Amino acid sequence: MDAYDAIARRISTRTFQDRPVPRALVERLLEAAVRAPNHKLTEPWRFAVLTGASRDRLADLRRAHSATRFPDPAAPEAAKVIEKTWREARETPAVVAVLCALADDAVRREEDVASAWMAVQNLLTAATAEGLGSYVRTGGILQDLGVAALVRLPAAHTILALVSLGYAATDEAPRRRTPAAQKTLWLE
Ligand SMILES: Cc1cc2nc3c(=O)[nH]c(=O)nc-3n(C[C@H](O)[C@H](O)[C@H](O)COP(=O)(O)O)c2cc1C
Repeated sequence: MDAYDAIARRISTRTFQDRPVPRALVERLLEAAVRAPNHKLTEPWRFAVLTGASRDRLADLRRAHSATRFPDPAAPEAAKVIEKTWREARETPAVVAVLCALADDAVRREEDVASAWMAVQNLLTAATAEGLGSYVRTGGILQDLGVAALVRLPAAHTILALVSLGYAATDEAPRRRTPAAQKTLWLE
């Protein structure tokens, strides 16, 4: 699969087959991730790969976090959403937590965060090329102290994203995008 195909085929995959992602494959994806452009070669990224028991712990933390969003988490509608969050997290074969160093200098920090996000995109493209589904998540869960402990977040680092990886359970079409031509001004 060439780069254009991988980019065009990538979608956010929510449900995965019950099939592990081999460690060597995740290692290959992470080697693709670290090829991202990076001003001053600061290499601000760190990765924590969660599978098995650590993935289960993340699922429990996500369930607890989800419950905080409802005034009455025991109400049937809330309980359904919370349970779905937990089940989806438990059924995700691997999660890569992407961490980024937070430099004191504001410009450096902005560049480092941009670079780490490019690493995320490389990871997603490579995953698609390998036949894997993926899903980027951000949100309040990234500030959860339990998640920080789980991924062993170093001092002066942040969790940028949680990237789910696995073999997709369903074959979905890519979602709509406005053609770039409608968003582009040519200045010749
Ligand atoms: C920075 C970023 C954060 C995201 N966070 C979430 C999230 O917290 N929850 C979620 O359901 N999707 C999240 N997504 C995925 C988007 O919802 C998804 O990319 C969008 O629906 C388009 O679908 P596609 O990726 O299949 O094209 C995030 C995507 C990005 C780039």
